[in-house]
Amino acid sequence: MKKNSIISIALFCVVFCLSQVKAQKEIYLDVNQPIDKRIENALSKMTLEEKVAMCHAQSKFSSKGVPRLGIPEVWTDDGPHGLREEVFWDEWSGAKWTNDSCTAFPALTCLAASFNPQMSLLYGKSIGEEARYRNKTVLLGPGVNIYRTPLNGRNFEYMGEDPYLSSRMVVPYIQGVQQNGVAACVKHFALNNQEVNRMTINVEVSDRALREIYLPAFKAAVEEGKAWSIMGSYNQFRGEHCCHNDLLLNKILKGEWAFDGVVISDWGGVHNSDQAVNNGLDLEMGTSTNGLTSKATSTYAEYYLANPFLKGLKTGKYSEQVLNDKVRRILKLIFRTTMSADRPFGKFVSPEHSDAARQIAEQGIVLLKNNKQLLPVQAGKYKKIAVIGENATRSLTIGGGSSSLKVAYEVSPLQAFTTKYGADHIVYSKGYASGKSEYGKEAASKLNADSLISAAVEAAKIADIVLFVGGLNKNHFQDCEGGDRKSMDMPFGQDKLIAALLTVNKNIVVILNSGNAVAMPWVNEVPSIIQGWYLGSEAGTAIANVISGDVNPSGKLPFSFPKKLEDNAAQSFGKESYPGDGVNENYKEDILVGYRWFDTKKISPLFAFGHGLSYTTFEYGKLTTDKISYASNETVKLSFTIKNTGKVKGAEAAQVYISDVKSTVLRPLKELKAFSKVQIEAGESKQVEINLPVKDWAFFNDKTQSWVVEPGKFIIMVGSSSADIRQTLPVNVINE
Ligand code: GLC
Repeated sequence: MKKNSIISIALFCVVFCLSQVKAQKEIYLDVNQPIDKRIENALSKMTLEEKVAMCHAQSKFSSKGVPRLGIPEVWTDDGPHGLREEVFWDEWSGAKWTNDSCTAFPALTCLAASFNPQMSLLYGKSIGEEARYRNKTVLLGPGVNIYRTPLNGRNFEYMGEDPYLSSRMVVPYIQGVQQNGVAACVKHFALNNQEVNRMTINVEVSDRALREIYLPAFKAAVEEGKAWSIMGSYNQFRGEHCCHNDLLLNKILKGEWAFDGVVISDWGGVHNSDQAVNNGLDLEMGTSTNGLTSKATSTYAEYYLANPFLKGLKTGKYSEQVLNDKVRRILKLIFRTTMSADRPFGKFVSPEHSDAARQIAEQGIVLLKNNKQLLPVQAGKYKKIAVIGENATRSLTIGGGSSSLKVAYEVSPLQAFTTKYGADHIVYSKGYASGKSEYGKEAASKLNADSLISAAVEAAKIADIVLFVGGLNKNHFQDCEGGDRKSMDMPFGQDKLIAALLTVNKNIVVILNSGNAVAMPWVNEVPSIIQGWYLGSEAGTAIANVISGDVNPSGKLPFSFPKKLEDNAAQSFGKESYPGDGVNENYKEDILVGYRWFDTKKISPLFAFGHGLSYTTFEYGKLTTDKISYASNETVKLSFTIKNTGKVKGAEAAQVYISDVKSTVLRPLKELKAFSKVQIEAGESKQVEINLPVKDWAFFNDKTQSWVVEPGKFIIMVGSSSADIRQTLPVNVINE
């Protein structure tokens, strides 16, 4: 063979091999490789310092990637209701960017009140698109801490008092967020049910209450929602801070539930190196801040999982295997998000997000009372409508702590009423004024309360109807992180104002903004009352659509409204039970939280869990099941009809409770085990079919540490609320 041809063949082989080598991407960079292979390949290339650097913050909301290997940083951002504005590198304050004003979605109490998991999926998808567009790796939400006292400053961020409702509503939210290639971060794990002494309080609670009440929503988030991250809470549980709590993080979360994501600390929630290393924490954020205002006193290099961790690794105090587990989880988070194949591109402040915010708000608004059928107020029905109350104009998307938002827009109730009814028919009066709020204090307003009241009374005098918009707001010691309310009373002299308005006009609709129950001394005199939550950017639009009857309200309360604070379970065992003695707190009501307490202690609440009226009425047909006896591993096929017996179409969230008639342990009178929201045209009926796995009727036996369904008689109860049971049916559970 000629010399030239040999050379050209040799050259071809070299070029071909080079091309192959070039084509041989690094495995960790190859999106077509299995994630675990990518993780091991990346890990094998990282130095000890690079691994440790990934396990703690480098700025207020970010942690290091591996620049040398092209592995991106992890960027987290609040919050559960919308994307927090960009802040300076190491500051809490906004950086005044001009492209980060977001869509504000309704608070999660409103989402829970929709009793509609489809709304959760829509919510998660929408907020996930905004997080993706803002190039976030992790969205610091949703929150699912159980509502055990109406005083907790952060209840507005969570999904109410019932573990089953919270479980069903949190799963689709997570799925919706994560379909955008953004990690949800379920918080605050666990037992963060108040803001008083939140950074230190040590919670004691029985295993039964832990398993039956406080963990289910987190368990569902991990096992069904497949959450890619979870946030440890500030408080302690059984003497260990929850950001590094061996029982919660290693044994339950990563052991029993096989959580394969990242445990992120709350900001300032880490207090101990050995525990931070060994008790299941993966990513340390915000050390030595209070999660709200204070600056870090320690630099990022001094974080517990920074130099102290590196030093311990080098001296053999800590095993590299523990470090590698953290890094594997963080790499998995990155390969699921920023380095994933076909990661979507997101959207920001899109019309679809406004539409989603409005739909969720409309489905979550709860009609508490409508005795004289004062509602709906159709356009044209009245000549003069007095809109009274500061919340009719006040922005409620700002404030409240870390969930505070800089929004692209926010429709106020007054704006929407003016659009709906025409400016000529609207007269507005502030009526009351809230004070200036800073963390730790709230100053009274400088406006004269009496003159505000008299001006409002004058407006009410000339009106055919009064739309009062009040309740709480996001000021400190209201619905706000970092503090709890001091009482259930509405602030800023609103009760006095409402009483004054009633002397001149009986046609009053009270619309409440709050994430908590409030006392209502005027409840018998006011003919119509609406629980209007915090509804986000489309707040006014949604509330005006419901008030006018363009939308028929269908929300149901995700928590009980006690008649008085002392009726509430957590308040029934003295300071030890709430807010604790400053060091320890014992949840002495145990499993009897919310309606479980009211039912079992036969205390009637002002408005019950699951309560919510409509502009129409519904009739429930008889219950039928496929059998009358079931083994605990079987599923009851329950069916019944609901008829819309009114004149307008509407939606009803039918609730299914079970009652264990005779058990060897104390059980609540009833527990929510299913719900179904059905749209029904006027005069029509709908067949509702619900599967009830009997295993879900179990209680947690803390002696055997197992779930138990004792054979015997159970009663299936179906109703329009926990206090409005329409049909019942006994069934037997038999030994398998
Ligand atoms: C706050 C909150 C947490 C929030 C984090 C970052 O203290 O407890 O919910 O995501 O710090 O702002």
